[in-house]
Amino acid sequence: MKTVSPRLLGAPLCAMTEIRTMTPADWLAFRNWRGGDNYTDGVIGFEFEEHLARRRIILLAVDGPEIIGTVQFVLSHDDPELGDGRTIAYLQALEVRPDHRRRGVGRSLVKKVEALASGRGFAQLALMVEPDNRPALGLYEKCGFTAFKESTDTWRDREYPVLCLRKSLAPAQGSLVM
Ligand SMILES: CC(C)(COP(=O)(O)OP(=O)(O)OC[C@H]1O[C@@H](n2cnc3c(N)ncnc32)[C@H](O)[C@@H]1OP(=O)(O)O)[C@@H](O)C(=O)NCCC(=O)NCCS
Repeated sequence: MKTVSPRLLGAPLCAMTEIRTMTPADWLAFRNWRGGDNYTDGVIGFEFEEHLARRRIILLAVDGPEIIGTVQFVLSHDDPELGDGRTIAYLQALEVRPDHRRRGVGRSLVKKVEALASGRGFAQLALMVEPDNRPALGLYEKCGFTAFKESTDTWRDREYPVLCLRKSLAPAQGSLVM
């Protein structure tokens, strides 16, 4: 059966959804969503420390009190082609809650990271995605990203193949206040 996009059915485009910076008050809800075991808790604990140290910005899409999506704007990466702290910024850990997908939340989160990056003078935004992740590839392609090399990433000591994508950013019109 063909799936019909909620937009075609006239559903509202996330009118109640707000995208904002994570605060310490969000920690428990964030951890409940993204954490679960010692390994994941360690990873998100590190990410949150970096967020507090302003080396990355964790963004949340919220619908009232509920977190329905998240993404991270990261200043630099071990691979300078993915983030060098100066001209190339890195987009990481994009995720939308399954019951809120296909309503434009993912795209809005990507756009917000693009605005953060260009507002801080970055000329490019880069990211990694698994080559068989069709929803994510569809979204990134729609947002104007193109693949520039193959690489690998690691999760729980397992190395897996990824595609590296990037996009040139238009210079910001004014400064962005977060
Ligand atoms: C990838 C993900 C973030 C997309 O979030 P989303 O809120 O559903 O995305 P959007 O509604 O903004 O979709 C924008 C466009 O992306 C593409 N897209 C999104 N989901 C898709 C799917 N399942 N299949 C094909 N294309 C898809 C479409 O072009 C879509 O536009 P359309 O709805 O007008 O056709 C979401 O599926 C997700 O959280 N997946 C699990 C985590 C993940 O894989 N993250 C990416 C890590 S690199």
